Amino acid sequence: MRKGEILSIIGIFANPQVNPRGEDSNLIILGFESSCDETGVGVYSINQGLISHSLHSQIQLHENYGGVVPELASRDHLKRIINLTKAALSDAKITLDEINGIAYTRGPGLAGALLVGASVATSIAYTKGIPCAGVHHLEGHILSPFINTEKRDFPFLTLLVSGGHTQLIEVKAVGEYLLLGDTRDDAAGEAFDKTAKLLGLPYPGGSKLSDLAKNGNRQAYEFPRPMLDQDNLDFSFSGLKTAVANLVNKSSEERKTLSETNRADIAASFEDAITDVLVSKSLKALRTKGLKRLVVSGGVGANSALRKKLDRASKDEDFETLYPPIEFCTDNGAMIALLGAEKIKNGVLGPAPFDIKPRWPLTQ
Ligand code: KG4
Ligand code: ZN
Repeated sequence: MRKGEILSIIGIFANPQVNPRGEDSNLIILGFESSCDETGVGVYSINQGLISHSLHSQIQLHENYGGVVPELASRDHLKRIINLTKAALSDAKITLDEINGIAYTRGPGLAGALLVGASVATSIAYTKGIPCAGVHHLEGHILSPFINTEKRDFPFLTLLVSGGHTQLIEVKAVGEYLLLGDTRDDAAGEAFDKTAKLLGLPYPGGSKLSDLAKNGNRQAYEFPRPMLDQDNLDFSFSGLKTAVANLVNKSSEERKTLSETNRADIAASFEDAITDVLVSKSLKALRTKGLKRLVVSGGVGANSALRKKLDRASKDEDFETLYPPIEFCTDNGAMIALLGAEKIKNGVLGPAPFDIKPRWPLTQ
């Protein structure tokens, strides 16, 4: 069969009108996440919310390489995705026949890894004759605080802080996003991971650095707070990381070994600097836009120092801050199933169901 023929068949089943159960029935969506180093599957119902989800993290697989190895990531997604699907369906106590819509992460992410989720998702949708939505990974993160709650008050400001992104986004409604600020170099998670590596912590070091920081003095070192005094909502963290690198390199040139206390102090001072910038820019965006609600999404949203500072600022400046549960801060299938439910409910499936977009700006 030629490529064009396959796509045209997918085009037929992708139309929600052909859903044999009709549009009024309870949508139960099976969602697949495979954009990077987590394989996630979620089952989300429009009527009941999240029913189940299963997740496998590849952290141990990539740890020895100090970062994600794309080829290994794809192979591991392939190895896990069917069993994770079976586990999610079994936990939900439903069969594939009761699923009436599919969602998968279309991008951004690693091409080979994305293809695994896209292939499984579209194959199931084709076989069962149900709609299939290829969705945006970052939109999944934006909506992740709503996985376990029906409360959705728009508009709000999202602080999206993950391994690849640091963005401030005004969310007017599902699908209506205005990018207010972005990173000019390293993302917040990337800065955490690179700094953790300098301190000898294994990949991905964000949460390990945060644990180390708990024993340190955050005033021990005066690291820069980049771009705080500039009149925009952008971020830049490479200078902060370089300041830590210079400190660590200087001590090794002087043949001094950093003590456990030194390392904890560096971690605490770094964490204090980066969270100061994230909080300060979020406050500036809230004030500029007159918004009263902040939603924090992405892996760095699990950071306890960041949460503490934002909670304090919420009280002082009278705004509400919402976080996804810690387990949904990092990549997962639940947020993709939730987002898929929104898209399929509204008949928005994207241009071509079997398609991946490794590079895909959120606002496109
Ligand atoms: O959202 P995510 O799972 O993946 C991407 O889409 O990038 O975010 C992963 C990032 C990693 O850089 C990781 O080190 C960071 O989130 N992270 C943390 C914490 N937990 C995860 N950074 C700081 N503190 C944490 N507790
Ligand atoms: Zn992510």
